[in-house]
Formats: sequence, structure tokens, C-alpha cells
Amino acid sequence: MIRTENISRQFQSGREIVYALRDINIEIKSKSLTILRGRSGSGKTTLINLMGALDAPTKGKIFVDEKEITSLSEVKRDSLRRNDMGFIFQSIALMPLMTAYENVEFGLRVAAYDTTGRKKRSEDCLAMVGLQKRMHHLPQELSGGEQQRVAIARAIAHKPKVVFADEPTAELDTNMGLQVVKVLKDLVQEEGLTVIMTTHDPSMVDIADCVYTLEDGMIIDMGE
Ligand SMILES: Nc1ncnc2c1ncn2[C@@H]1O[C@H](COP(=O)(O)OP(=O)(O)OP(=O)(O)O)[C@@H](O)[C@H]1O
Ligand SMILES: [Mg+2]
Repeated sequence: MIRTENISRQFQSGREIVYALRDINIEIKSKSLTILRGRSGSGKTTLINLMGALDAPTKGKIFVDEKEITSLSEVKRDSLRRNDMGFIFQSIALMPLMTAYENVEFGLRVAAYDTTGRKKRSEDCLAMVGLQKRMHHLPQELSGGEQQRVAIARAIAHKPKVVFADEPTAELDTNMGLQVVKVLKDLVQEEGLTVIMTTHDPSMVDIADCVYTLEDGMIIDMGE
């Protein structure tokens, strides 16, 4: 599904060069849940941003479905992100004045759905994350874990092939965090989604199909 070939990413910070990632070779299998873990500053966000075509490597190649993406034009990368990818972030960022349903439905307005199709798809996605009963609540009336599940419903509504989640559980307690990861795992098993997430939390790794550990911008361990 996604394969990186010797990718490195360095940042120029004043006169200094920061090596955020060095010679990363990883392969993400389709229909699996992959966790990237490692200490703060180890390069997790940088790596997820590269695979999600939000950023480009200084060196190396990235293949999505065997198509090389680093040489694509900005327009093509944008369309790849919009059609095939979904994103979930640490800070949940729902629209505060919209209900859970409206938050999901709004995201579908740019996709090719008519009104009836949007309604059905939004309701289906909220049901998949176990929120059919909370659909018409505002974010402030939902718990942190429920809000993050709305964000998941929003990220999967346009039927992406792959979902990137950067520390989706960082603002939740361990219990609620585990629930959220469980929802992602169910989507992998039942909907055939591919999920790549980062975490600091060691209690999450058991649920993953594959775990990569990063240290100082390098992969130091890989476990299935
Ligand atoms: N835009 C940037 N300019 C300069 N340095 C950067 C930039 N982005 C990231 N870095 C550096 O690259 C390294 C990796 O950062 P990254 O954000 O990928 O780490 P992380 O593993 O996601 O950390 P955290 O767990 O704190 O989110 C860090 O040393 C960071 O300071
Ligand atoms: Mg990070």
C-alpha cells in the first residue's frame, strides 16, 4: 500500500540542519493497523506527514499503491490527499457550532455525493464509530473520546484507502484512548481500511498489526 525507499527529511533551522528522519525504509500493508512509536522528537509526525503527502522528503522516494508520489505536482498530490487519504489529529478540531452529524456531513460536501447520499453516508459512518445515539449532539456535549470518534467518522466518510492519525489518543485518558484505537482496529477489520497512527502510549501497541519504533529519526525496531 505504502512503501518508502531511503527517505530522509532535514530541516534548516537558522544555520543549523536538523536531521528529522534518516534513511527510512518501511512498508505499510493494506488493511492493517500500523503504529509508529518513539520519544518526543524521534520523527513520528515528520514521517506521517511525508506518507500523507503533506510534506516532501529531502531525499528518497515514497510509493502509494506503487505510484511514486514525491514527484507529483501539487495539484495531483492535493487530489491524492482528498480522494484516497483521511486525517485525524491530536487536537480534535470539530466545528463547535455544528452537531456530530453536521461535522461529518459538512466534510462530504466537497466530495461527489448528492444530498441523500451524504445523509446516508454520514449516518452510516457515525454508526460505525458507535455514535448513532449521539448524532445530533454538539461537540461540547460529547466526551473527549466521543469527539475523537466523530473525527474518525469525518476522516473515513469519503471512503479513503488510508487514514493517518497523529497522536489521536494523546488528549484522552488510557481507557478512552484504547476505545478510540479499538474503533480504528474495527474499521481495519470490517471495512478494509488501512490505518497508520503515532503514539507515545505503550498500552496501545498490542492492538496493532505492525509496530515501528523510531529513535533520533531512524527505525530501531520493527515488530508484527
Ligand atoms: N519545521 C521544522 N523545522 C525544524 N525542525 C523541525 C521541524 N519539524 C520538525 N523538526 C524537528 O525534527 C525532529 C522530529 O520532529 P517530529 O515532530 O517528527 O517528532 P515527533 O516524534 O512527532 O515528536 P512528538 O512526540 O513530540 O510529537 C525534532 O527534532 C524536531 O525539532
Ligand atoms: Mg509528533
